[in-house]
Amino acid sequence: MKILGIESSCDETAAAVVEDGRRLLGAAVASQIPEHRVYGGVVPEIASRRHVENIIPVVEEALARAGLGFPQLDGLAVTYAPGLIGALLVGVNFAKGLSLSTGLPLIPVHHLRGHIASCYLSHAQLQPPFLCLVVSGGHSHIVAVEDYTRLRILAQTRDDAAGEAFDKAARAMGIPYPGGVELDRLAEEGDENAYAFPRPRVAGAPLDFSFSGLKTAVLNLLNGARQRGETIPVPDLCASYRKAVVGYLVDHFLRCARETGMHTLAVAGGVSANRLLRRELQRLCGEAGYRLYLPELSLCGDNGAMIASQGYYEYQSGHVAGMDLNAYAQRSIELG
Ligand code: KG4
Ligand code: ZN
Repeated sequence: MKILGIESSCDETAAAVVEDGRRLLGAAVASQIPEHRVYGGVVPEIASRRHVENIIPVVEEALARAGLGFPQLDGLAVTYAPGLIGALLVGVNFAKGLSLSTGLPLIPVHHLRGHIASCYLSHAQLQPPFLCLVVSGGHSHIVAVEDYTRLRILAQTRDDAAGEAFDKAARAMGIPYPGGVELDRLAEEGDENAYAFPRPRVAGAPLDFSFSGLKTAVLNLLNGARQRGETIPVPDLCASYRKAVVGYLVDHFLRCARETGMHTLAVAGGVSANRLLRRELQRLCGEAGYRLYLPELSLCGDNGAMIASQGYYEYQSGHVAGMDLNAYAQRSIELG
């Protein structure tokens, strides 16, 4: 079964064709990052307009790379939640029009479920049940993936997402948007023991996350140094901060694995590209004897293939939509 996946929830217009949820046949993406960089973050109105301009060429390119036309497809999967509402609506309305004109079934896909599917594309042997750390620019969850379309949130952030915590700290250090990637690169050259950060705790929910205090600690450090006329070596601050954020994520994730007895682990979302997060999990899962599945680097960020892959499993469970499909800025991963 060949499914075209369409993604437009944030600043990437992406499309791909995937066969039977696992085999990538062709993909294309138009990134808007350079345009949003001058504003220090994604400008929703600009994002929507660029999606409108890019969606047809991106879909045509993905189909051309797959060597397929609409008659050879079996379904259209589209990200319908969560994300920037104007951006999501471009993909949803385009997919609805395409479904109406081609007669192909319309399959709504939750963006974070899509991120998890990037692990199915990267590892043919990975099947539920497993525990997944979902860390993106907008969300941080630990999820029990009981089945392809039955997911349970075991822990989540109470404020900023992990990606946001990286981006906001990077911005305070003068690193351009999206700072998480560059912070990770600079951290490789820094001293991770140069600065100490507090370990945040959420009262009554020991596995939940809170990142806002860590971000404030960076701001206080930078402001204090500025007032004293000192300069802080940015690579050292990047390395120390990355160690604090990654240590926090890894601790909670492994504690969750021990408590649930689920020893097959996966990571998904943009932050799954983080070098230290990958290294630390590989080391600690190796020691504990847990199986670890990381997405290929090319599939960590937003892409169409992950939507097409999850779309296959949603379709198998009977999740199809009609012309009344809407987009939602927020929606739980449990609801799909
Ligand atoms: O999943 P994603 O591409 O978009 C959302 O669904 O939000 O995630 C983007 C986030 C951004 O916050 C970006 O800074 C972060 O992932 N990110 C990283 C790295 N690569 C991307 N954060 C830390 N280290 C990285 N290597
Ligand atoms: Zn994403």
